[in-house]
Amino acid sequence: MTKSIIKGIGHYVPENIVTNDNLSKLMNTNDEWITERTGIKERHHRKNRNDSEETTAFLAFKASQKALKMPGLSAKDIDYIVFATLSPDYYFPGCGVLLQEMLGCDTIGALDVRNQCSGFVYAMSVANAFIKSKMYKNILVVGAEVHSFGLDFSDAGRGVSVIFGDGAGAVILSASEDENAGDILSTNMHSEGKYADELCTKFPGSKYGWSDRMRLEPENVTDAEIYPVMNGNFVFKHAVTRFPETMLEALNAAGKTVEDLDMFIPHQANLRIAQFVQQKMGLPEDKVFNNIQKYGNTTAASIPIALSEAIEQGKVNRGDLVLLSAFGSGFTWGSVLFEF
Ligand code: COA
Repeated sequence: MTKSIIKGIGHYVPENIVTNDNLSKLMNTNDEWITERTGIKERHHRKNRNDSEETTAFLAFKASQKALKMPGLSAKDIDYIVFATLSPDYYFPGCGVLLQEMLGCDTIGALDVRNQCSGFVYAMSVANAFIKSKMYKNILVVGAEVHSFGLDFSDAGRGVSVIFGDGAGAVILSASEDENAGDILSTNMHSEGKYADELCTKFPGSKYGWSDRMRLEPENVTDAEIYPVMNGNFVFKHAVTRFPETMLEALNAAGKTVEDLDMFIPHQANLRIAQFVQQKMGLPEDKVFNNIQKYGNTTAASIPIALSEAIEQGKVNRGDLVLLSAFGSGFTWGSVLFEF
């Protein structure tokens, strides 16, 4: 039977570190509030908010180069791209095609996934299905975001803008017939669109545009309607319910238990959410990997960045049973359970 193995992985973040104290100079916030509510101490933002080089596709390109290097593959070996982001370089086309061009891949298919914080889990699930159906052999699966150009750094936006950071993570998911190789054992994906407005960016969009002729009016900018809005408490409550559900669904589908897990890597939404889930599931602290303290919430990039760091630090090793789970805007949620 064809298995889906993670052959390569890499991550990349812009050099520029923005601390909580740095943010407190832009808006009425402070290190204590941010640390206590979210666990975040710093995040990376591209240096110059007018910098058109460090785009989402560019961060993905840097992460992908590292992921390719690990197994010694070249861009020509990639036969499909799945790219998850909510902050694409263009309104259209998506980032997948830009990455295909930057890497110098052949004219392979490039699919963009728009599932926000669950984007990477969705992307891995799709890639796994393509591998298992023998359609592709080496799929580049990416999560990347540049949030810093799209946040409201005034007092009005402080409940959202302190949380998010820029970054990218990439995985090479490959087909293997080796019976000793790891594999993706189960995946699940869910959505509940009735809560779309609880965490979203409305403009530019066909639903909320004022005029029949324009995607965006000057008023949308002056009224700050181009920025993300979030009902934080509401998101929190749904997240701590959906995380355990999707985790147990993934474990049950593979005939595994929480005790079998070597590592749980949650989407890095908020340290308090991760700690709540850890306790609810009865997981010891050394079996949960968190790095939100350094990167903030990088949405689709958070899980591949965390997985990449966990492997670098020797906390995830070949043969380990690893669970990735996410919850976020949509609402969407889901999991990927795999043997590394
Ligand atoms: N600095 C200082 N004070 C802030 C602030 C900031 N950055 N942001 C909001 N506040 C203030 C609010 O204005 C409010 O003041 P008030 O009581 O005088 O009205 C107070 O802090 C409490 O705000 P509230 O929004 O109720 O805080 P909270 O305890 O719910 O924490 C979140 C806010 C966003 C940290 C929390 O709801 C959360 O993490 N939710 C999940 C969000 C998430 O994970 N999103 C990612 C998508 S998966």
